[in-house]
Parts: sequence; C-alpha cells; structure tokens
Amino acid sequence: MLFDSHAHIDDNRFDTDRDETIQRAVQNGVKGIINIGADMASSARSVELASRYEEIYAAVGIHPHDAKDAIDSDYEMMARWVAKEPKIVAIGEIGLDYYYDWSPRDVQQAVFIRQIDLARQLGKPIIIHDRDAHGDLLTIVKKEAQGMTGVFHCFSGSLEMAQEVIRLGFYVSFAGPVTFDKSVKVKEIAAAVPLDRLLVETDSPYLTPNPYRGRRNEPAHVRFVAEEIARLRNLPLEAVAEATTANVRQLFRI
Ligand code: NI
Repeated sequence: MLFDSHAHIDDNRFDTDRDETIQRAVQNGVKGIINIGADMASSARSVELASRYEEIYAAVGIHPHDAKDAIDSDYEMMARWVAKEPKIVAIGEIGLDYYYDWSPRDVQQAVFIRQIDLARQLGKPIIIHDRDAHGDLLTIVKKEAQGMTGVFHCFSGSLEMAQEVIRLGFYVSFAGPVTFDKSVKVKEIAAAVPLDRLLVETDSPYLTPNPYRGRRNEPAHVRFVAEEIARLRNLPLEAVAEATTANVRQLFRI
C-alpha cells in the first residue's frame, strides 16, 4: 500500500499510455497519486485527472519557474477550483528555484508568498519546491506560513534544515535521487527523519529511481524509493509503505 505524493502524469509524455500507467501503479500497490500543478494549464489538467480517476488527487499552484507569468485572476481561478473540487488537496507546487532562476527572484518570492496566503485562506497544506534557495525559503515559511503545514518535496537541504522543517510542522518527501549511490547526504536524512513526517514520491516523469534511471519515471516506481528508505532504516518495506501512506492521508486529509 503505497501513495505517490507527487507526480506529473498530466505531462504529454503520458499521452499515449496514461490509463496503462495508472493501472500499472495500482497493480504495484500504489493506492493513490497526487498530481501536481506547476502553472495554470497543468493545474487545470490536474483537476481534470482527479475528477476522472478514482486514484488521483490534485494540487494546483504556480511553480517558481512560471512565477513571472502569474496574473491576479490566477489566484481567483485557483480558489474557484478548490471550492468546486473536493479532490484538490493542496496548493502546489510553489516555492523558490535559484538554480535555474527562470523568474526573477523577487517575483518568485512575491508569487510564493501570495500562494501561501491563498492556501491559508482555503485551509489547504502547501507543497514546496526548493532548489538552491534554502535560506530565503525558510525565512519566508517561518514568517508567512506560521501555523500552516505542508511538505518539502524532493528534499535537498541539510539534516539540520530537515529538523527545523519538522519543528515548524512540515513533512519531508523523498524521490528517486535517494536511490542513487552518490546521494550520501540524502540517504542520511531519509534514515534519520521521524517516520511520521516522511513521504515518498516519484515526481514522474522526472527523477527516475534506480534501477530505471535514465528512462521516463512513473508512479509504479515509487516502490523503489520506499524500498531504499526501508533498507536505510532497517525496516520491512511494508512498514515504510504503511507509515508514508498514513502520513499522506493525515497531511492532505484524504
Ligand atoms: Ni514536481
């Protein structure tokens, strides 16, 4: 019983076999998938997938890459979607990406803060994207998201940062990179964070875990992420699967 807490199966790389991909996930013990929006178009597709497939839940949000294109009516549209579709479980993915810097940093920050605000108004958790922006990101979360909850997806910070994030009431999620030999730091953190704050994800079609690295990722592969975390923690796979699924249900009220 696994739950893929972060996937983009609305991506056009699934256009020819989306039904089969979802079926394969179910056959591999994946009980649910949260499909994540990254701009208004993919958020709309997320909502549509959630209404069409029983196993799929949706998040809507504007990724820092697309922050430069956000307009006022986008926030109203997201609020309308949430009011209409109970399977929208979060605002995301939102955050900061200073690795690519596809939007100016001040714009990324403003759009991030405005979506935190929206999530607070709507009573939803947030799904956070953080790439090379740990300092500013934590500053904003501490100031703007007090009393809120959510998840740091594909966690890439230090152990100290993970501990702080957990103290603030957030969860941390791990994806394919935890299976790579050179991800020593990520493995250490995945072994150390409390089991009741841990999520697993694929970020399909990206971040494909071993042994399928280099190919398109899909939600069925979330088991390789869970297996590696189970190995690192010296636990049976079932224990990690059960705990991470329970955490998803708790965080996203599914
Ligand atoms: Ni993503």
